[in-house]
Amino acid sequence: MMVQDSDIQQLARWIVQSKKTVIFTGAGMSTESGIPDFRSDQGLWKKTDPMEVATVEAMNHRYDLFHEFYSIRIKNVQKKKPHTGYSVLAEWEKKENLTAVATQNVDRYHRKAGSDNVYELHGALEAVRCIRAGHSASVEDFLNKQPCSQCGSSLRPGVVLFGEMLPQQSWENALNQIQQSDLLMIIGTSLQVHPVNMLPSMAKGKVVLINRDDIQGSYHFDLILKGSAEKILNDVNQRIKEQKNQ
Ligand code: APR
Repeated sequence: MMVQDSDIQQLARWIVQSKKTVIFTGAGMSTESGIPDFRSDQGLWKKTDPMEVATVEAMNHRYDLFHEFYSIRIKNVQKKKPHTGYSVLAEWEKKENLTAVATQNVDRYHRKAGSDNVYELHGALEAVRCIRAGHSASVEDFLNKQPCSQCGSSLRPGVVLFGEMLPQQSWENALNQIQQSDLLMIIGTSLQVHPVNMLPSMAKGKVVLINRDDIQGSYHFDLILKGSAEKILNDVNQRIKEQKNQ
């Protein structure tokens, strides 16, 4: 599947012209770093039932299974690193008018690659806290199944489990930024999960989708680039440099 060069050119022009670009990413932004997504052929939910491991009920009644599932994910994220597409987005935050990244991802790869203004809509794996009182704790203590040093309860990663509320501040900031954006780029998400899948329809400006597979649901995109996030971001960045040198 080849992306049309004219589409790459078009997106590069829109980014250069934009006064307020916002990025909205999902798990497809990290698969080329070696972090599996959820609903693709190799996705996590193809092998594991999320209701078995990624719910409050699982945390409270199947802690060993819950702990094993998230420990594997934490170790994989620690072992891998953000690919060059993440570096392009961090560069655009400094050189273009990219004002914010809203992400569903919990790997903190946007921050690790140098993006500053990042809203974590589903929390972060490494933001470990205790279940009873929310006392913060280290990733190492979680991996070693240590109890909370302050109250003795079990530890959990700081990700939003199915059925839990999203972090209010991140949600409001992301919504605000998207509503004010003149360009929203949606990268690597199936837009299957509520309420974040409502965000694209809140955009007032242009909406661009960069995704490997087709998206279900009735969304309006001004441009669709079907393919690899890392390659497309690098190709667009190359075009921006060429356009600026003209
Ligand atoms: N380049 C571009 N798109 C990609 C790539 C890639 N290298 N790899 C995968 N994709 C696309 C897939 O085609 C798919 O449409 O990314 C999308 C990933 O969709 P999901 O696996 O559903 O991930 P996401 O949309 O982020 O899931 C949302 O579901 O389980 C919850 O909390 C979890 O945050 C997650 C939420």
